Amino acid sequence: DIAPAPAETAAASTGSATGGRIQQHRSYLMCRPEHFTVSYTINPWMEPANPTDTALAVRQWQVLYDTYVALGHDVQLIDPIPGLPDMVYTANGGFVIGGVAYGAKFRYQERVPEGPAFMEWFRDNGFQVAEPVEVNEGEGDFLLVGDTILAGMGFRSTGDSHRELADVFGKEVVSLTLVDPRFYHLDTAISVLDPVEGPGGVDRANIAYLEHAFDERSQAILAERYPDAIKVADADGAVFGLNSASDGRNVIISPRATGFEAQLRERGYNPVLVDLSELLLGGGGIKCCTLELRR
Ligand code: ARG
Repeated sequence: DIAPAPAETAAASTGSATGGRIQQHRSYLMCRPEHFTVSYTINPWMEPANPTDTALAVRQWQVLYDTYVALGHDVQLIDPIPGLPDMVYTANGGFVIGGVAYGAKFRYQERVPEGPAFMEWFRDNGFQVAEPVEVNEGEGDFLLVGDTILAGMGFRSTGDSHRELADVFGKEVVSLTLVDPRFYHLDTAISVLDPVEGPGGVDRANIAYLEHAFDERSQAILAERYPDAIKVADADGAVFGLNSASDGRNVIISPRATGFEAQLRERGYNPVLVDLSELLLGGGGIKCCTLELRR
């Protein structure tokens, strides 16, 4: 007797007019926030005068880690380094496709040492590293959707890094301009729900996004490329609802993003709520704490 894979059973049981969603396996890199605090301000969420609770940050982070593992994903860890409180936001540590890691070069001095630390981890773990010349903050600003890389600029990664990125991976890179300082990284304004290319090259890839985080040119590009995208309400964007991680079926989101949660259900996704309120004090959420490792 061969039992069907759990993911298939689950997808089949919720399959609807919108189509059952199929879970894909993921490999992630995370960093336990043992040294998490807010001691400087490099985004509008960070207020060093407000107290942070490192133990609570670790407990909340652990729930995210356990959630990924329970869903069957593979989670690798990089050791946290004292004095680098933002290292928990591993999405900024690089951008990885096909075993090649394009390293990060951070905009602000406070995070600059993280770049080499992540590159060392990539090398030690069998990835080929492409050292960056241009300022870029990794998967915080670069998102793979189908065979296209969406790339953010305006606050952190530069337009020059988008060209470097295209050279490294030989893929189409679409530059998008962020305009609201609260949404300073692309992964705070776009969530990749389904990165998969459909059979026969049909692009089934889909995203959710916050329109007002982008300039008009970028809004037009997104509307044209993703006519089926979920457009989230400002209220959901403002609680970092889009800073989420999807495996094609399960979408890990903030419990505060109730409107987005309902939109996901309507489309046949399974929202899984994980609260990282303490890490939001540093201006990061679920996706920020998650770097995808594509071998
Ligand atoms: N405090 C960090 C910074 O401002 C938060 C990074 C959030 N990461 C992300 N992928 N959006 O750089």
